[in-house]
Amino acid sequence: MLRKLPEIWIGETPEEVMQESAKRVVGYLKKRLAHRPRVSIVLSGGQTPRALYERLATMTEIDWMRVDFLFGDERYVPPDSPDSNVRLVQETLFGPLQIPPAHVFAIPTSPSPEAAAEQYQQTLHQLALQGRLSWDLVLLGLGPDGHTASLFPHADWIHAPKSVWSMAVHNAPKPLSTRITLTPAALNHARLVVVLATGKGKAAAVCAALESDATPAELPVRAIVPPNGQMMWMVDRASAFALTKTLG
Ligand code: 6PG
Repeated sequence: MLRKLPEIWIGETPEEVMQESAKRVVGYLKKRLAHRPRVSIVLSGGQTPRALYERLATMTEIDWMRVDFLFGDERYVPPDSPDSNVRLVQETLFGPLQIPPAHVFAIPTSPSPEAAAEQYQQTLHQLALQGRLSWDLVLLGLGPDGHTASLFPHADWIHAPKSVWSMAVHNAPKPLSTRITLTPAALNHARLVVVLATGKGKAAAVCAALESDATPAELPVRAIVPPNGQMMWMVDRASAFALTKTLG
């Protein structure tokens, strides 16, 4: 598949990256809302987007009531666990904005990882049937090994049929080893993918993602190539420092 060149924005600091990312997320969603009654955003887990969610919660230039919130992955823990992605977003974004629960489509974490993944797949299909799954924006983080969402190197997702949009993850190399993740087949519906990566710990993964010919199995973020969408990398100096070819 011919890769479109991604846009790469480099901020001096993580704070600057999150400030610019918030502006771009809101700007893009507003643009999409000019053409449709609702938009959907797939949220990332991990710690990087915390400051982004906190900043988004202060932005009033968009009607947040017209936004549906989904998740790219979830740890297999109760929603009130300190390790839960939905708890992170509840605290930083949904709570401050008083987002109605009916607009939040969290990944279930019971009764089993497989049943939860199947249930989320059904939720996505139902939303699609209702014309309420527009995949406008997908937010992704990046692990030092090039994983994104809970798509880890050389893991089962690689063999998943295109019909599988959500799957259980066992023995993940990142703590909370049991997870549920959307697959590239789902994430690649995105009209805009925003990858957030800051800090020198991500530099090797950012460079490999943008400048190597690593396979998706080796570097899962390279499986994210939305055929009808655009990739936007929001990075800071530290995570971009190993880039050589990509910068203009
Ligand atoms: C998760 C995330 C995961 C995360 C990266 C980066 O649930 O852990 O979905 O993909 O985005 O591991 O994590 P940090 O932002 O904490 O570095």
